[in-house]
Amino acid sequence: MKKTFSILLMTVAITAHAQKATIKKQFKNLEPQVSLLLKEAPAAAQNGRNFPRTLENGKLKNVVSRDWTSGFFPGILWLMYEGSGDKKWLAPAKEYTEMMRKEQFNKGTHDLGFMMFCSFGNGYRLTGDTAYRNVLVQAARSLVSRFNQTTGVIRSWDHHQDLWKFPVIIDNMMNLELLFEATKYTGDSSFYKIAVRHADVTLKNHFRADNSSYHVIDYDPETGQVRKKMTHQGYADESAWARGQAWGLYGYTLCYRYTKDKKYLEQAEKIAAYILNHPRKTTDLVPYWDYDAPGDDQPRDASAASVTSSALFELAELSGKSAYRAQAKLILENLGKFYRSAAGSNSGFILAHSTGHLPAKSEIDVPLIYADYYYLEALLRSRR
Ligand code: GLY
Repeated sequence: MKKTFSILLMTVAITAHAQKATIKKQFKNLEPQVSLLLKEAPAAAQNGRNFPRTLENGKLKNVVSRDWTSGFFPGILWLMYEGSGDKKWLAPAKEYTEMMRKEQFNKGTHDLGFMMFCSFGNGYRLTGDTAYRNVLVQAARSLVSRFNQTTGVIRSWDHHQDLWKFPVIIDNMMNLELLFEATKYTGDSSFYKIAVRHADVTLKNHFRADNSSYHVIDYDPETGQVRKKMTHQGYADESAWARGQAWGLYGYTLCYRYTKDKKYLEQAEKIAAYILNHPRKTTDLVPYWDYDAPGDDQPRDASAASVTSSALFELAELSGKSAYRAQAKLILENLGKFYRSAAGSNSGFILAHSTGHLPAKSEIDVPLIYADYYYLEALLRSRR
């Protein structure tokens, strides 16, 4: 019995070791492409637009640090350091992270989780530098300044005030990670409580009977009542925008990670079932940009697939259900086989074929920096 157990332990250790080596090799293979982006980004930087986001008319398009996507490039550099084990990624990761420092005081957006957690959050996790942690705590303070006690949620956007009074988008679930972490760093439970309240109110109002989610819920900040249920980036108000479903899946999975509240795990599993059993599921599991956009020639969204893959790896771990891991792996493999930019092309973006905002005729069938970020995160999670 004892002998069988030690053989089993040895096999597990050997498998884990082999898996780690494979991932390291995969990161090494990605190095030329990410190095190209690192080389091209400064050339495209004008007027503070330091951060690569996508390609526009075939040319690299950078954005300023207050853009919601700014943190993904520093995040990619941190993940390259983690995945390859090569110290050469440290200096650029630190440099791009530093360029975001002032956003810790930005109270004009709910996207601080994306922006600061991907950059400073990975920096803190991988270096233990407490100066990074201090920035994250300040960013969490800025983020909770957008919380309203009456609605019980964090306001997403300040634009379109003619249309909405207090809009909250499903994407906002992603920003809660910063708040859960801020409570861990400081012992101040107010961040945690706000995150939980936001997750609960979103659970109540954002989901339909089939477990798909609306993109935007507009609240009345005086009464807390829901005013409108709409889309902004999806096909229709009643449709299921693909990336929104992925944000919800990832968001409720992370809420379960921090709280161990079963209702979040159940919600994550319901969303996973919606995505994985959808009648319009594509054969390669990379979804159309919106599940309800008609016809088979709709653009795909590789970013939705990479977020879903990463989330499913974690869901598999937390639920103990290996079927999620199998699906996560399949998505990751298909992205690698069919959605990778040809070597040396696309200014160094790893994945092609994402869709950012089709109704605005913007970012259709292009590389997007967050598709690459969650692809790398999924790769790292696949070794756990
Ligand atoms: N959070 C904005 C988007 O997913 O496009």
